[in-house]
Amino acid sequence: MNIKVFDTKQELDAYAADLLCAKVAAKPNAVLGLATGSTPIGIYKELAARHRAGLSFQQVTTYNLDEYVGLDAANDQSYAYYMRDQLFSLLDIPADQTHLPQGMAEDLDLECERYDTMLQAQPVDIQLLGLGHNGHIGFNEPDAKLSGGTHVVKLKEETREANARFFSSMDEVPRYAITMGVGSILKADTIILAACGADKSSIVEQALTGPITTEIPASLLQTHPRVIVLLDREAAQRLTL
Ligand code: F6R
Repeated sequence: MNIKVFDTKQELDAYAADLLCAKVAAKPNAVLGLATGSTPIGIYKELAARHRAGLSFQQVTTYNLDEYVGLDAANDQSYAYYMRDQLFSLLDIPADQTHLPQGMAEDLDLECERYDTMLQAQPVDIQLLGLGHNGHIGFNEPDAKLSGGTHVVKLKEETREANARFFSSMDEVPRYAITMGVGSILKADTIILAACGADKSSIVEQALTGPITTEIPASLLQTHPRVIVLLDREAAQRLTL
């Protein structure tokens, strides 16, 4: 794994944006896999700045990792809303080239199949990932077994609690989500895993240097040939580099 440690989150954000923009410059119709959460916010700000400076995303296609079940795109806690707010509205990317699993789909199994079919037709060039405190990537939670393709997942209480900060009460935090599977994530040509803060240092150490186990889904990234790990000093503090 290629691990890079940055003094500041701003430097990390700029580096991640460099990688994504270099891909878009070299391949204007690149397929980007995107994440939500706190970690990518600065990266998306950088992408928006690069667009303002002249880089076009008009031919880019995006696939997001996940979406809550039961929240529609107008709900400000949905990932569809987050992506519009934090990124898509700031780029020139046509809306029909941006994809998220549909958490309001009537038939969720069919929705998972639809998403996988699209992903097979348009393989991801670079997948951006954040890292959950329990080692989840997307919403692939620690378990005795993991699913390969897109699937519905029951969120762990610890994940609901970590995300409760965005909702007005714990009851409002959805219990289910649709997520790309670890198998789909690992099919990306290149993966960028970004993690910041001392609170991520323990899981960073376990995921990158511990045994490969479904109980730490991010540890499966050790099997991928092109993973670039971007950390700030705090998140990297338990690694001997
Ligand atoms: C979000 C996602 C999650 C987050 C993870 C880290 O689309 O897939 O796996 O990347 O929960 O979240 P933050 O960045 O908020 O610490």
